[in-house]
Amino acid sequence: MFATAVFGALLSSLAISETASAAEVSNWRIRDTLSVCQEISKAVSSASAVYYPQNSSYAVDVEHYLATSSQEAACSVEPGTPEDVGVILQILGNTQTPFAVKGGGHASNPGFSSTTGVQVAMARFSGVTYNSGSQTVDIGAGLIWDDVYAALEPYEVNVVGGRVTGVGVAGLTLGGGYSFLSNQYGLTVDTVTAYQLVLPNGTVSSITASSNPDLFFALKGGFNNFGIVTQFTLKAYPQGQVWGGIIEAVDQFDAIAAATANFYANVTDAKAAILPTFNFASNTPIGEVSIFYDGPTPPDGMFDEFLAIPALSQDISTRSFLSLILSDPSNGTAGLRGYFNTVSLYEITPSILAAVANETLYWASQLESDVPGLFVSYDVEPFLPSVFSHGSDSAWPPIRANAILPMNIYYSWNSSSSDSLINNVMQTSASYLTSLAVSEGQAVSNAPLYPNYAIYDTPLSRMYDDNLSRLQSIKAQYDPDNVMGLTGGWKF
Ligand SMILES: Cc1cc2nc3c(=O)[nH]c(=O)nc-3n(C[C@H](O)[C@H](O)[C@H](O)COP(=O)(O)OP(=O)(O)OC[C@H]3O[C@@H](n4cnc5c(N)ncnc54)[C@H](O)[C@@H]3O)c2cc1C
Ligand SMILES: *[C@@H]1O[C@H](CO)[C@@H](O)[C@H](O)[C@H]1NC(C)=O
Ligand SMILES: *[C@@H]1O[C@H](CO)[C@@H](O)[C@H](O)[C@H]1NC(C)=O
Ligand SMILES: *[C@@H]1O[C@H](CO)[C@@H](O)[C@H](O)[C@H]1NC(C)=O
Ligand SMILES: *[C@@H]1O[C@H](CO)[C@@H](O)[C@H](O)[C@H]1NC(C)=O
Ligand SMILES: *[C@@H]1O[C@H](CO)[C@@H](O)[C@H](O)[C@H]1NC(C)=O
Ligand SMILES: *[C@@H]1O[C@H](CO)[C@@H](O)[C@H](O)[C@H]1NC(C)=O
Ligand SMILES: *[C@@H]1O[C@H](CO)[C@@H](O)[C@H](O)[C@H]1NC(C)=O
Repeated sequence: MFATAVFGALLSSLAISETASAAEVSNWRIRDTLSVCQEISKAVSSASAVYYPQNSSYAVDVEHYLATSSQEAACSVEPGTPEDVGVILQILGNTQTPFAVKGGGHASNPGFSSTTGVQVAMARFSGVTYNSGSQTVDIGAGLIWDDVYAALEPYEVNVVGGRVTGVGVAGLTLGGGYSFLSNQYGLTVDTVTAYQLVLPNGTVSSITASSNPDLFFALKGGFNNFGIVTQFTLKAYPQGQVWGGIIEAVDQFDAIAAATANFYANVTDAKAAILPTFNFASNTPIGEVSIFYDGPTPPDGMFDEFLAIPALSQDISTRSFLSLILSDPSNGTAGLRGYFNTVSLYEITPSILAAVANETLYWASQLESDVPGLFVSYDVEPFLPSVFSHGSDSAWPPIRANAILPMNIYYSWNSSSSDSLINNVMQTSASYLTSLAVSEGQAVSNAPLYPNYAIYDTPLSRMYDDNLSRLQSIKAQYDPDNVMGLTGGWKF
């Protein structure tokens, strides 16, 4: 701590000195952070480890799905026990060291789970324990959903989690969580019964609705503002074979839009779900539709309109839940730069679908010659109007009067010179679609935006609405020294 105060003073004098170069300043910072890495290394138990850039474990720890969400940290730390997480948080807080917390590394905003300081990688929290008595599952915060689905398969139970391969349990659960099972059971936050949370002061605690109603509410959508979660306890639901998979079709946006509109208008069976995506890549409009039914055979006719679309490929069968998740090739763009943005719809109409298809084609053609490696993707997520009826009192969604059908707008590219242009386009496009929805009567101009999809400069009030002040006071109570302010993400 003393050393840090000295380095801090040196930094401020260097910053105003005419002779000090930016490189010198940043060298002081790196040395300063390295001393923190060493302090952590000495303080933690043998269950944990600190890695430096030459080490292969470091590379795994700082890796992210998107290149824009990845940075070179001074070191990475893999805590192995909640107590060690507490030790680490205390050192980071005392030394005021910037850090990042990574679960599955699928954050779509820069700096949300990456840092040039200390990268905390939760990978060693990897247990999956099914409690048949309470019908719950304890899940380590370092896992991806694929691993959880695989571990639960032998018990013929499942949890409400992500829809494509590779996504982390932690970020999805801490931000909301839209699943193929959401029409039946709600968002992932609606199924959490307990969080094992390491508070910013290092205390390990179990947070439930009865132990700490305020924190329990805040963690349902509030991400890393209240400490580091080491384990989630989720409700378990019966799970047998499912039916569905992926349809990919070239030049079929109109047919996909029509089938989607009819599905949304007609299908009220909570076991059914679809995820239609309008993509543009390599000069080609490629539609991709995930179709899902929670049972070995769907009711007659339910998906016929999708199955009739002339397809490039159709991978549809009766299969395990995990097999269906793995059928989605969504990680084809892994490793490129990328952002998400979103529009909150209350209804999916033929005119919105036409506009979504048009946005995909319009912006792809506008940007293609200027943006190397461009991939443009818009999805619509037609959940049932009752999707929010399965839960209550959460940081997100802040209001449950209307089902929020979040659109996922995803652009990917390969050069940093395109970053700000793409951010602008993604905001322009989202505003355009929002005003279109408003013009056809949807009251969505202030509909809360889904924080797991919203682009990085979205105002907090657009996501958390009137709950923001309550969240800020809970944050002030449990993190008076703003330790969690040293890490990235949506900050209360
Ligand atoms: C390909 C792809 C598919 C997706 N599919 C879906 C989907 O089907 N449904 C859906 O709802 N969303 C989906 N998302 C969005 C997804 O929910 C978010 O990107 C989510 O935040 C990813 O979680 P993660 O653990 O992988 O990310 P990370 O980047 O590791 O973390 C995201 C945020 O959570 C914080 N965090 C991570 N671990 C902890 C912890 N232990 N304690 C405290 N804070 C922590 C991080 O600091 C960061 O701010 C998808 C995203 C991608 C890229
Ligand atoms: C990585 O770090 C660990 C722990 O310090 C060490 O045991 C291992 O030898 C290192 N591996 C490499 C390739 O440097
Ligand atoms: C589905 O809904 C549409 C309206 O979008 C309607 O015209 C059509 O007849 C319905 N189809 C079926 C099979 O119910
Ligand atoms: C994509 O996901 C599959 C299945 O999980 C995995 O085997 C593959 O390595 C992933 N590819 C990338 C580029 O991440
Ligand atoms: C397509 O999108 C662009 C950009 O939002 C818009 O200017 C144009 O009017 C749209 N065209 C149609 C036919 O909707
Ligand atoms: C970026 O994408 C373009 C077009 O696909 C490709 O030619 C180029 O090699 C890519 N550059 C990098 C650095 O990947
Ligand atoms: C959250 O905000 C909504 C309005 O946006 C309000 O109706 C609700 O009471 C708030 N909930 C809590 C728990 O503060
Ligand atoms: C840590 O914070 C919690 C919640 O504010 C508090 O109850 C606890 O006493 C604190 N522990 C220490 C050691 O200060």
